[in-house]
Amino acid sequence: MCVRVSGTSDGRPCVARLSSLSASTGTVDLYPDILEMIESVFGDIGAAEEGRFALPPLGYAPDGLGEAYPEELLASHYGIHNKIVSMLNRMVEQARDEQWCVEGRIPRAMTRTLSLWAWEHAMHCLFWRVLSPSALPRVPDNLGEAMEQQYGSVVSAVTLFASLCASIDSRGWGIMGYQPDGKLIIFHTGELINAQAWPVKPLLVCDMWEHAYQPVYGQNRSRWMDSFLEMVDWSHVAGRYRPTKTAE
Ligand SMILES: [Fe+2]
Repeated sequence: MCVRVSGTSDGRPCVARLSSLSASTGTVDLYPDILEMIESVFGDIGAAEEGRFALPPLGYAPDGLGEAYPEELLASHYGIHNKIVSMLNRMVEQARDEQWCVEGRIPRAMTRTLSLWAWEHAMHCLFWRVLSPSALPRVPDNLGEAMEQQYGSVVSAVTLFASLCASIDSRGWGIMGYQPDGKLIIFHTGELINAQAWPVKPLLVCDMWEHAYQPVYGQNRSRWMDSFLEMVDWSHVAGRYRPTKTAE
């Protein structure tokens, strides 16, 4: 028995295997399949531990990002991420409870909602990971050369990313990702993430939901982007860039 959950990095529809279907009770466990889906796209971003989705620890002190991302803003945003994790785990538990199943199947609306929250969780995990208090502005050669080849220069690629993010009106994510052949893609999500629409592996993500920046930056999204780019750890971003095919 299968339930469609989301998309894969190569664009094929991903049909989650309900590997833990219990024939006796009709209950299912979506956790392993959702985790696999996340890790196939994002890699190991610390999204889970000990059989549950988990809030990843920050790699810096709460005030470590300085004025660019003040402690109060970081605390409130990290708290929102924590609520997403709690909601996600609660939904996984509900999916395991047979009262939520109809003839052994989880209602489609529930799997879709669960998928959306799983994606929000994964995006936040990567968001925290690409920031650093000791970020260096230099983009390592492996990614820098790809940016130059495709966008003319590193500056042009970063400027495009920043202007795209700044154009997002209140809600969504800006993403720089790549396809298996190494081709870079810069795009933004809508308010609801449709994973099937972006068959790429994300390298850099910027949260453009109002909770991520408006308490400090208001509607000045350009200033938020300036600060965001000051915090980006390009060595980590470039370390995620691992094309698996030769470009044709
Ligand atoms: Fe957020």
